[in-house]
Amino acid sequence: MNVLVTGGAGYIGSHTCVELIHAGHTPIVIDNLRNSNPKSLDRVREITGQTVALYEGDVRDEALLERIFDENEIHCAIHFAGLKAVGESCAIPLEYYQNNLCSTMTLCKVMGKRGVKGIIFSSSATVYSGDNEMPLRENSRTGNCTNPYGWTKYMGEQILRDIAKADPQWSVVLLRYFNPVGAHESGKIGEHPNGIPNNLMPYISQTAIGKREKLSVFGNDYATHDGTGVRDYIHVVDLARGHVAAVNYLCEHKGEAVFNLGTGTGYSVLDMVKAFETANGVKVPYVIAPRRPGDLDTCYADPAKSAQILGWTAKHDQNDMCRDTWNWQSQNPNGFDD
Ligand code: NAD
Ligand code: UD1
Repeated sequence: MNVLVTGGAGYIGSHTCVELIHAGHTPIVIDNLRNSNPKSLDRVREITGQTVALYEGDVRDEALLERIFDENEIHCAIHFAGLKAVGESCAIPLEYYQNNLCSTMTLCKVMGKRGVKGIIFSSSATVYSGDNEMPLRENSRTGNCTNPYGWTKYMGEQILRDIAKADPQWSVVLLRYFNPVGAHESGKIGEHPNGIPNNLMPYISQTAIGKREKLSVFGNDYATHDGTGVRDYIHVVDLARGHVAAVNYLCEHKGEAVFNLGTGTGYSVLDMVKAFETANGVKVPYVIAPRRPGDLDTCYADPAKSAQILGWTAKHDQNDMCRDTWNWQSQNPNGFDD
């Protein structure tokens, strides 16, 4: 299958390109490189031996999308392109709504026109309402998002659901990611956060390599086994393989389906710090800091539906996540900037 991968030069997109190629598919990428570096796709070529076509431009550019469909026989799309920084989304909400929603609508418009009606959408555990019991199931309550980024995912899901409802030829798969971490085992591709990382794992690895003095652990008085926040960390290669499973599912099903991509196991911040130190023989200095506003104490998935219907489960464990994060960080201290 020829798969249009929007945002394919980014963190999850580049890993998914590798797994698509391994599975015999051909990714065709559109990315405006706002939060990525085209070197990621050079590295995908080094890993797989295959060149990935990159169209540099915005998914909201309808004429460019038309050109991509003219020049390639596209069979379905994986829509990663989007802005993802929670704090930034509070500062520039209009840009987040513009970018994340208009890109989805423009893409679907052109796909519909071309009769290509299979799409996989990058959603997030952030669409679940904070008052659910754990683990989160696909039918747990959604909404009450705490920031504009979360709302763009919630609304993006709704737009796609409505499209599938209106035209039974569409096949829409909504994938709700938990906390993607890690990197390809080769150390050639990985996460390259812009500036100071907001997320835990890149902060841990930048602290271990000495770019940051110490990690601030946001709160140690949560109702968890050690007081620090618990999350469902998932290795990015497992996540990428979840997309390959979703491509297979798309070929055989119409309508809308939603799946959690998580492991089902929660680890605390201090669990992750200790695991990182043990896996890599490094030190991660930390201090206990106040809670970060908007954080939940615990968040983890029930991945049973993905296992049953997609035939997908996460294979990498916490040690793999820590080892591969460090392998990428230590081989590429400045990400793709070297
Ligand atoms: P990323 O920033 O590395 O990748 C997103 C890519 O999309 C970037 O390469 C960026 O340049 C591109 N892009 C953004 N807007 C675009 C536009 N209008 N046109 C063309 N390209 C555009 O992020 P990621 O971590 O790989 O995330 C991929 C998707 O998964 C995003 O939609 C994100 O919201 C979602 N997601 C990510 C996480 C996470 O923790 N990384 C968790 C849940 C959901
Ligand atoms: C965050 C986003 C969420 C997004 C997800 C993607 C917020 C409020 N939520 O979720 O929308 O989908 O990333 O992965 O930003 N922590 C520290 N110190 C740090 C960084 C994090 O202690 O420097 C803690 C947090 O308090 C939390 C855990 O580590 O308990 C994980 O944090 P993070 O990686 O930012 O992910 P989420 O908060 O789950």
